Amino acid sequence: MTLNQLDTPALIVDLTLFDANLKEMQSRLNEKGLKLRPHTKAHKIPELALRQIAEGAEGICVAKLGEAEVMAKGGVNDILITTPIAGEKKYQRLIDLHTNYPDARFVQVIDNQAHVTAISKFATAADVNVRLMIEVESGQQRCGVMPDQTLVDLIELIVSSPNVNYEGIQAYSGHLQHVKGYDERNRVARQAVEDVFAFINQELIPKGLAPEVISGGGTGTYEAYEGLGYTEIQAGSYIFMDASYQKIGDENDAATNHQFAPASKYGQPLSAAPPPHEPWLMQAPNAFLLIWDRPKSMNAQISATPAAAMNTGSSTYLKEKLSSISVGNFSCCQAIVTPR
Ligand SMILES: Cc1ncc(COP(=O)(O)O)c(C=O)c1O
Repeated sequence: MTLNQLDTPALIVDLTLFDANLKEMQSRLNEKGLKLRPHTKAHKIPELALRQIAEGAEGICVAKLGEAEVMAKGGVNDILITTPIAGEKKYQRLIDLHTNYPDARFVQVIDNQAHVTAISKFATAADVNVRLMIEVESGQQRCGVMPDQTLVDLIELIVSSPNVNYEGIQAYSGHLQHVKGYDERNRVARQAVEDVFAFINQELIPKGLAPEVISGGGTGTYEAYEGLGYTEIQAGSYIFMDASYQKIGDENDAATNHQFAPASKYGQPLSAAPPPHEPWLMQAPNAFLLIWDRPKSMNAQISATPAAAMNTGSSTYLKEKLSSISVGNFSCCQAIVTPR
């Protein structure tokens, strides 16, 4: 493929660095005895999710039902939907996932008794069982119940309702992922969930309501929780390691995080015509090209940081025109794999 055949906006991923990132996170969590359930909001592509699973991830997270449908259709068979859903249409779509993919494993996050009652009703009518995970507030104030009697009541309602199962607890502190400085980030991340774990230990376990799964953590905080009781980590952004995540620092360097490599570059619509037939993608055969169709706040996200990935290409034009970008703000994409 040549530069002038490239549709834009496009994100180009260096698969060598991408694969190295997958291995790095998986082995770091293996060492800690934690499972990895990567959040796929960073790519939203079944093929990449299957690569993460092949590398050792137990399954994936998605933010919403539509993403779960795409992933299930693409062959992913263990999916946690990390945001509560509401309304009859959504409940029915959740049930349809269960009936359409009977061999797959789905878990739906909830944080309200109305969710439990409704999902139980829809699941009973369709004769399926739905696993429910309860979001517990851990500082982000996005959704979730407090670790108090509300949580106990919610668990007891699930346990006593037909066709729903109590899978566990989600505690994700998204607001702390980008705190700068390794020690400070780990400190505040741990502090944010201390009440949750105190409640689990002092109230839930003695009552026989221990969560089997405790899920949370991201690329910024996955190392903060040693010994607390998380069973799985939901980190996702490490796969591309965008420019904003690089700036959070790691254990060896106060300024930059070198644990994962910046594996993506962004191609934007060009104001000047590119040199014709420049065979740069052929020169970087280990590239993975993603074409997004609805970029949001594109300019705000572009950073001038040159990524190591592109230094392998011979085209100075390419080096000038592509820059590292946070991909989380793109909504959907089409993936094209160049021959390896
Ligand atoms: C619930 C949840 N878990 C995990 C993640 C992934 O975290 P990160 O991209 O920081 O690795 C996100 C990101 O938004 C999320 O919303």
